[in-house]
Amino acid sequence: MIQPARATARTQVAVIGAGPAGLLLAHLLAQDGIDTIVVETRTQEYVAARIRAGILESASVELLTAAGLGDGIAAHGDEHRGIYLQWPGERHHLDFVDLVGRSVWVYGQTQVQHDLVVASEAAGRAVIYGVTDTALHDLDTDRPSVTFTTADGASERIEADVVVGCDGSFGPSRSAMPASVRRTWERTYPYSWLGVLADVAPSTDELIYGWHPDGFALHSMRSADVSRLYLQVPNGTDVDAWSDDRIWDSLQTRLGEGIDGWSLAAGPITEKSVLPMRSFVQSPLRHDRLFLAGDAAHIVPPTGAKGLNLAIGDVALLAPALAAWLRSGDRSLADAYSDTALRRIWRCEHFSWWMTSMLHTSADPFDAQLQLSQLRWVTSSNAGAAGLAENYAGLPFGF
Ligand code: FAD
Ligand code: DHB
Repeated sequence: MIQPARATARTQVAVIGAGPAGLLLAHLLAQDGIDTIVVETRTQEYVAARIRAGILESASVELLTAAGLGDGIAAHGDEHRGIYLQWPGERHHLDFVDLVGRSVWVYGQTQVQHDLVVASEAAGRAVIYGVTDTALHDLDTDRPSVTFTTADGASERIEADVVVGCDGSFGPSRSAMPASVRRTWERTYPYSWLGVLADVAPSTDELIYGWHPDGFALHSMRSADVSRLYLQVPNGTDVDAWSDDRIWDSLQTRLGEGIDGWSLAAGPITEKSVLPMRSFVQSPLRHDRLFLAGDAAHIVPPTGAKGLNLAIGDVALLAPALAAWLRSGDRSLADAYSDTALRRIWRCEHFSWWMTSMLHTSADPFDAQLQLSQLRWVTSSNAGAAGLAENYAGLPFGF
């Protein structure tokens, strides 16, 4: 059968995925005079509405601010000095500013995404939403390309100098790395999170991470009027099995037991979903003219809030590396990208696994004693607390 002719566009960097990694990469490259075209399977509205991460490390805030994307954070973000860690009967505050001199910011991924879309539209950058059949070609030549079908059914091709896969855990870029060079590491966890968004003022000034025999609970927030809360639930949990009353009762038990004088304010739940938890790394992050960034290359379980920050960290390394290559032919940073990024990625993989393992309960009473011992150490020893604080508030991007 004769295939219909494809319209071909030419750019320097073809970016697959318009999540935070893809849009931030396009933004930073534009500041270095590099052209991009971004393709995205979802609609702009769908991507903008996804409820995801809530915490930015200080290095992420510094990078976004330096890139001219800091106005929303300055106006609506909430700087936190630390977190609370607790178990029944004890709640302890860890002050990251005192411990390691760095803070974190509550600023939702939806807000980051919004800021990126506004900047992208203001600059008139090419972002093509609603595509299907995204495929990568000729990655081992100096003219790689991406083909796709537009929302109108037209077949299109983008030819580029390099292709960057920012297409998250389900996109095609990861598996476009040749099987002969790629290596993966993976861990699944025997529990999930039930996450809810509620129209109620947070019952805490800073996030509470709670260990409880019934399972982990987390009290986070999005604003002075909106709370974000999570409960550990078994894998395969049906969200309909959790009525609003059951959710509020469980949160009150897991976060309130033995904490004198504290109670959780309940309110209307506006969103409810179950998230599985997984650790995953694929290396290398670059082969020939294909690069990976963000969730396309690695996944962390959410405890410790590293996923979005890791995506920002990858892009912070990749943008100057591609700019040096495409502007002056200097490939040294591009050649170093995978190894440099992986050092930080594995540190965050370890931290996310460690926070997850310390806080999520299993049926094993021996494990429970180990977890409580670890929690007592982290909250009573300056060295233990500083280790957690340094990782949570975030290591430098080039770590
Ligand atoms: P994504 O945001 O997944 O973007 C990838 C994009 O690629 C998507 O828009 C997708 O539609 C698109 N795409 C996929 N396939 C194709 C294709 N074939 N063609 C074109 N486009 C394609 N991280 C934190 O740091 N802190 C947190 O508190 C936190 N909480 C989270 C809570 C939840 C509920 C979830 C789900 C995640 C959370 N994370 C958190 C993780 C964080 O959201 C991700 O790590 C982050 O979104 C990664 O950004 P990304 O741009 O790499 O990938
Ligand atoms: C949030 C998510 C996390 O995984 C976390 O560790 C802290 C906060 C959140 O969605 O607000």
